[in-house]
Amino acid sequence: MRKIVVGITGASGAPYAKRLCELIAKRDDVEIGVCLSSTASEVWSLECGGDIKEDLTTLGLRVWGLRDFRAPFASGSAGWHAMAIVPCSMGTIARIAHGISDTLLTRAADVMIKERRTLVVVPREMPLSVIHLENMLTLAKTGAVVQPAMPSFYGRTKTLEQAIDTVVGRLMDQLNLPHDLLKRWGDQP
Ligand SMILES: Cc1cc2nc3c(=O)[nH]c(=O)nc-3n(C[C@H](O)[C@H](O)[C@H](O)COP(=O)(O)O)c2cc1C
Repeated sequence: MRKIVVGITGASGAPYAKRLCELIAKRDDVEIGVCLSSTASEVWSLECGGDIKEDLTTLGLRVWGLRDFRAPFASGSAGWHAMAIVPCSMGTIARIAHGISDTLLTRAADVMIKERRTLVVVPREMPLSVIHLENMLTLAKTGAVVQPAMPSFYGRTKTLEQAIDTVVGRLMDQLNLPHDLLKRWGDQP
């Protein structure tokens, strides 16, 4: 059983998080813990049209409180395997890059880095400033995977849902979760 933390922040891109959560909530090979930033709910309701906690709880996922450091993944000793932060705001990237573990989400990321476990951040911003780029470089140097929310189109992507899946599929690859969301390069047409 893999144990995976999903962090959701207030960057644009809540539909990526929603899709990931829908897919992984159905699996019986992963235990999921969800933590949110304080802005996540505002962006989720704008972009997905619902209440983030209600939507995730309905999927059967446990959503931990903003500063609930009793969550097991707030400590390295609990042995959680990986964390995805999707979408990841520039503010959260900056806080993680500078070790500011003031919420459960940033603390969980800090734990993943110090324990040399898998941390995947899915940033979204444009354009990127030097500050953003330097903070992402800092994270990449720790071993974190910086995987921007950049849909691909070489699979003849036609719908928004397909575009979302090109990002979520690559994210699931990084989390070692098998899926069939993607048309892979080299696959027969
Ligand atoms: C609708 C909306 C869209 C936003 N999109 C982005 C974005 O794409 N990238 C980003 O870094 N911040 C974005 N922001 C700003 C962040 O929400 C804001 O900087 C916030 O303080 C981030 O806090 P958090 O990292 O704790 O979620 C957006 C805010 C709103 C309300």
